[in-house]
Amino acid sequence: MKITVIGTGYVGLVTGTCLAEMGNDVLCLDLDVSKIKILHEGGIPIHEPGLLEMVRHNVEAGRLRFTSDIQESVAFGDLQFIAVGTPPDEDGSADLKYVLAAARNIALHMDDYKVVIDKSTVPVGTADKVKAVIAETLQQRGVDAGFAVVSNPEFLKEGAAVEDFMRPDRIIVGADDERAIKLMRELYAPFTRNHDRMIVMDVRSAELSKYAANAMLATRISFMNELANLAEKLGADIEQVRIGIGSDPRIGFHFLYAGCGYGGSCFPKDVQALIRAAEETELPLKVLQAVEDANDAQKNVLLNKIKHRFGADLSGKTFAVWGLAFKPNTDDMRVAPSIVLIEGLLALGAEVVAYDPVAMTEARRVFGERVGLRYATSPLAAAQDSDALAIVTEWKEFRAPNFDALKSALKNPVVFDGRNMYVPEQMRQRGFEYDTIGRR
Ligand SMILES: NC(=O)c1ccc[n+]([C@@H]2O[C@H](COP(=O)([O-])OP(=O)(O)OC[C@H]3O[C@@H](n4cnc5c(N)ncnc54)[C@H](O)[C@@H]3O)[C@@H](O)[C@H]2O)c1
Repeated sequence: MKITVIGTGYVGLVTGTCLAEMGNDVLCLDLDVSKIKILHEGGIPIHEPGLLEMVRHNVEAGRLRFTSDIQESVAFGDLQFIAVGTPPDEDGSADLKYVLAAARNIALHMDDYKVVIDKSTVPVGTADKVKAVIAETLQQRGVDAGFAVVSNPEFLKEGAAVEDFMRPDRIIVGADDERAIKLMRELYAPFTRNHDRMIVMDVRSAELSKYAANAMLATRISFMNELANLAEKLGADIEQVRIGIGSDPRIGFHFLYAGCGYGGSCFPKDVQALIRAAEETELPLKVLQAVEDANDAQKNVLLNKIKHRFGADLSGKTFAVWGLAFKPNTDDMRVAPSIVLIEGLLALGAEVVAYDPVAMTEARRVFGERVGLRYATSPLAAAQDSDALAIVTEWKEFRAPNFDALKSALKNPVVFDGRNMYVPEQMRQRGFEYDTIGRR
């Protein structure tokens, strides 16, 4: 099939590449010419395990190309995937300006039947807006071309995006146009050969399913975080509680980890957008509002622990921070808890030495030149002569550090672990003062 993917970010580039991997001809469009330049030079603009190799393989095979030419991209694909950003607007609702601009661009240049597929995470009713924009633009042009708008929300996880796309749990297609549904079935059949995992439903339910999934996952995290804080007060151990409840098949073990708050490009904005959408219907989502409030508070939990231990004036003190990306295996720092911690430490007069295996370039972009903030080339170098260590992202390389070397590098053997990576008893035996999220 001939496919255009609009937007070459975390979702668009993975979508385009994986569709090419199955033998389709794919053209990826991005208006950010710096991204297209990187792609033309054989690189990729993001860190995503396995993606670079797959991009190169498909480019060499002639199935994957990149452009910033809108006219070329519209002419190319019978299927036009919209995978552009939907950042929060000022009030937290999803800003649809990129999605609607992409739709308008398609309508400005199309002359024959197109299936326009919303892959971006968009509020209920967006497909209707996309449809209206395309119909209006075609009418203004006096062009009588048929089209269908399909909702196909994406469920991939950054850090495991290629694997998730190639082996999806489910593919949700919201559509009411039989011709479009048939094309979507054909497109996705190679991804679901083992058994059919495509769920076809009405457009609005498909749009809501994506928000519902992220809201449910965020709820589990905030629930565990609040419980962890309570466990600390009550002298219980959240890790024991996690095992105790996760073994109930109705609950399960996934996504039950307490930590220093969720971040990233999806949960915070999608939770907010769903809350705002519900408010517009005058049916507030009270549970979800609490989820968001709990998460905002949780992002300060490490800073509060540090203040409790070292006092509210941190001038003259230096803190090592391990982990800047919002989660492991990505360089994405959007709404990362590390930002809240580092800003908090700097505001209290502390110096920060940060380390992350892949997100350091992104961190320099996010923070710019900041007095008091330095970057180290290794975890141990960050710890060297620091007053304490704070762990924010659970990268594998932090799982089993050389604890003796870490202890001698730090001025005080104090570790604040926002991801509960080590066994508290063992840390105490190694001579560390070890503060966790809800562990005894
Ligand atoms: N990142 C994730 O893990 C993830 C997972 C599932 C769903 N989503 C959703 O997918 C969408 C995209 O997310 P992302 O993380 O890939 O965003 P991103 O910011 O990484 O990428 C979006 C890209 O779209 C480009 N763009 C914007 N307007 C354009 C236009 N009119 N024409 C061509 N290109 C344009 C931007 O330059 C950018 O490169 C969002 O709605 C997001 O919520 C993201």
